[in-house]
Amino acid sequence: MAAPREKWNSQAGFILAAVGSAVGLGNMWRFSYLAAEHGGAAFVVLYLGFTLVIGLPVLLAEVAIGRGARRSPIRALEHFGGRGWRWLGWLFVASGFLILAYYSVIAGWTLRYALDGLTGFATDSGGFFAEVSTGGDAALWHLGFMALTACVVAGGIRGGIERTALVLMPALFVLLVGLAIYAATLDGTGPGYRHYLSTDFSAIFDREVMVQAAGQAFFSLSLGMGAMLTFASYLDRDHGLQSESVIIASSDFVVAFVAGLVVFPLIFAFGLQAEVGGSTVGALFITLPHAFAEMGAAGNVVGALFFVGLAVGALTSAVSLLEVVVSSAIDGLGWSRRRSTVCLAALTAALGIPAALDLEWLGLMDQVAGNLFLVFGGLMLAIFVGWRMNDPTSVVLEGATSTAWLPAWRWLLRFVVPVILVLVLAGSLVATWELLVGEG
Ligand code: TRP
Repeated sequence: MAAPREKWNSQAGFILAAVGSAVGLGNMWRFSYLAAEHGGAAFVVLYLGFTLVIGLPVLLAEVAIGRGARRSPIRALEHFGGRGWRWLGWLFVASGFLILAYYSVIAGWTLRYALDGLTGFATDSGGFFAEVSTGGDAALWHLGFMALTACVVAGGIRGGIERTALVLMPALFVLLVGLAIYAATLDGTGPGYRHYLSTDFSAIFDREVMVQAAGQAFFSLSLGMGAMLTFASYLDRDHGLQSESVIIASSDFVVAFVAGLVVFPLIFAFGLQAEVGGSTVGALFITLPHAFAEMGAAGNVVGALFFVGLAVGALTSAVSLLEVVVSSAIDGLGWSRRRSTVCLAALTAALGIPAALDLEWLGLMDQVAGNLFLVFGGLMLAIFVGWRMNDPTSVVLEGATSTAWLPAWRWLLRFVVPVILVLVLAGSLVATWELLVGEG
């Protein structure tokens, strides 16, 4: 069989790659959008709370399984749970395929915007979006983005994924902070900051806001489909997992928070808040470019940089999605990395074509795979580690320096995480149903 399992070059490399997976369109836009819709700082506080109460425990569960088994998801679950749990690994792989297929279409748009923005954003940003988001152009940019993702994954854990994350993640962070500072120099941003950072805290007790915040905390950390599990399967057992998980979760939060400091002032400075309508995608690809167009020449540069940042976030996330699928083929079929990458990236690219040709189809894939599958997968994972695995604590303990919060971890996984995720799942089922019925 194949060569010995690949390894990260350094613990920092693993952490940055995991942060790369977590930081994506979810932080840069979905977060701000939800915060704007759901009472600003109240949402931020709730989101932070759910990151601690469900995000961190599930993240630690995923990395513990991955590092403990040192196998890709299907085999890792079989290793700890027996053959009866393989199906969950298959669900993870299916989610990887489906999410990557449409995620890559959206990422293609960001590449397109970054390039076109340099020569000026269209004032009729709605018309521009309608033109580039669907059809042959969208399909081509999607294929280009998939090729880029495949190049990184084909380079392997060290040479491809780790190296890319080491360069791109710090660059992305510097870029975002720069944009936030620039946004602070604009006139008329006061209402934007106020909308973001002050709040009516009674929103905290609103059930809808809670469900949204919990779902976002989960989505933003890339949980529920084995991405973190797979990355952790390339770790040695001589380091801990707990402070790593805390670093990953807090970086993800900080990036989302800073992105809010870019987005809110920009939109309010140009009085476009009313344009932020009923869809996340519209807000990101229509309202914000409108603001950049209003800014004139500076807007070209700032806007292009913003979309480059988005594309970078999307690339490092897409890499982790493809790695779930590729590592499963390497482990399960004994294929070489290169062969797995080429074949599976091609398959995903084909799967994404319908999404590039039809926006409604893209929305449906997002709802079913990006929402439903992930929450369900995370729920099952919590049940698996909370109730099925024999001694998950000892798996975490290898290489660990502190044991203090492990009892709390198991308790959260057993009782708290399942209850919250069942509520989120119920909300997601209703939303999926509405989308399906609305389509028919
Ligand atoms: N966390 C990513 C973001 O914030 C999106 C995402 C969700 C993801 N699940 C994932 C990325 C799984 C990679 C793997 O945009």
